[in-house]
Amino acid sequence: MTDTSHDRLLIVDFGSQVTQLIARRLRELNVYCEIHPFQAVTSEFLTDFAPKAVILSGGPASVIDEGSPRPPEEVFSLGVPVLGICYGQQVMMQMLGGHVERGHGTAEFGRAYVTPEVDRLPLLEGWFTEGREQVWMSHGDHVSRIAPGFKVFGTSPAAPFAITGDPARNFYAVQFHPEVHHTPNGRKLFEGFIRLAGFKGDWTMGAYREEAIAKIREQVGGGKVICALSGGVDSSVAAVLIHEAIGEQLTCVYVDHGLMRQDESEQVVGMFREHYNLPLIHADESDLFLTALEGVSDPEQKRKIIGKLFIEVFEKHAAEIGGADFLAQGTLYPDVIESVSFSGGPSVTIKSHHNVGGLPERMNMQLVEPLRELFKDEVRALGRELGLPQSFIGRHPFPGPGLAIRCPGEITRDKLDILRKADAVYIDQIRKHGLYDEIWQAFVALLPVRTVGVMGDGRTYDYACALRAVTSVDGMTADYYPFTHEFLGETATRIINEVQGINRVTYDITSKPPGTIEWE
Ligand code: XMP
Repeated sequence: MTDTSHDRLLIVDFGSQVTQLIARRLRELNVYCEIHPFQAVTSEFLTDFAPKAVILSGGPASVIDEGSPRPPEEVFSLGVPVLGICYGQQVMMQMLGGHVERGHGTAEFGRAYVTPEVDRLPLLEGWFTEGREQVWMSHGDHVSRIAPGFKVFGTSPAAPFAITGDPARNFYAVQFHPEVHHTPNGRKLFEGFIRLAGFKGDWTMGAYREEAIAKIREQVGGGKVICALSGGVDSSVAAVLIHEAIGEQLTCVYVDHGLMRQDESEQVVGMFREHYNLPLIHADESDLFLTALEGVSDPEQKRKIIGKLFIEVFEKHAAEIGGADFLAQGTLYPDVIESVSFSGGPSVTIKSHHNVGGLPERMNMQLVEPLRELFKDEVRALGRELGLPQSFIGRHPFPGPGLAIRCPGEITRDKLDILRKADAVYIDQIRKHGLYDEIWQAFVALLPVRTVGVMGDGRTYDYACALRAVTSVDGMTADYYPFTHEFLGETATRIINEVQGINRVTYDITSKPPGTIEWE
């Protein structure tokens, strides 16, 4: 913790899948907020954080169960507005003297309609323009008696206490989820809440930029900072921001591991050299990486080799400039939020995502992480504010191990060449059809399978490839993109005609879960 110059809203997380969306909605309204797991929210924490308002999130537990999560009593004596959502509503009612019961035969999941009971609750200004509002419910338990001082302001067929409030104390409780997309006007409720709490709406990108620059200067002083630049949005925005703050005290290292896409290294390095004139080492280490990967087909083994070499190469180039005191990283807020775990057990590692986590200790450097408080779309907004070209800001994410994990099985230079060409044609097609910005990530995977084909009068025996394109919000879950058959047919024809070495194209229609986005 963090920023003290803004009015701050505290979100107490009880483990709902959608808690982050509460923060997103508030940030859109220029309100600075932080999410903290309920276990961390102690009385001392509350005093320290001094929130101007509190939101209690939803969560999977039942308030009826012994030992179910609760916020400290002091939440209700801070004298600030409190909004309880779903589980947050139930915990609020129970702690303030109401009553909650398990189910009642009609657990409500999904779309519901709330109608107003009493008009003119300031919280609800601008709501109910059509007499009722669509909301998203997801609850098993229900409030059977509201707490003293509360009144009913909205009902749904299965939730007689859909919206309740004690306007004198500025306590409000809703049974549904105003933060999700399926509550189309949910934003209005948050608007009402922050208006009542007296937020100034002072969280803007322009202000953030100025503050971040001042903070970087203060942290770094006269020290030297080094940054691993990948060409992705996060590291690019972090680098440009830090450069603006401390100029030549920053050196960026772009490690080319030979697993980048077609022309990618030239584009990244060229953009930074031309537009930003920022000290940049272009480390072409492709031979080193590709030799180390020879004969390796296990995905985790590939990641480990690449991760270890990356650190070695980075250290080597850092030493060339005489070392550094700080390491800059494009860590984002979702990476920082502690997750709520009820089981307490470790979760299964599906893939060990490559990062440079081992570096700061090894090299005895402190971290500079100027994006720690931002969500991805806020990073993009900051990038725009800093003048980064849209073509850079809108780029699809690209994994650290690059094409190594898009070439299942053993990697060879020949296969990488074929993959790069096919990928370039595919992305060109997507851009030409104006679909690039609708898609979270799109790429080709070159399969370790050869198939028989016929071209002209001759037999071919070449590789098959799979096209992948997904929509997603955060990469945690994803849907395959529904291209038209015409698009797929045209793309397959172009790849087979233009890329020697591929004679068969398939489209991957697996969602995540059960699949993952990458093939390895
Ligand atoms: P998966 O394949 O796990 O990918 O569904 C989710 C997101 O993470 C990216 N990804 C990686 N990024 N190192 C990275 O830096 C990795 O090892 C790695 N593996 C997957 C993937 O591109 C997608 O955006």
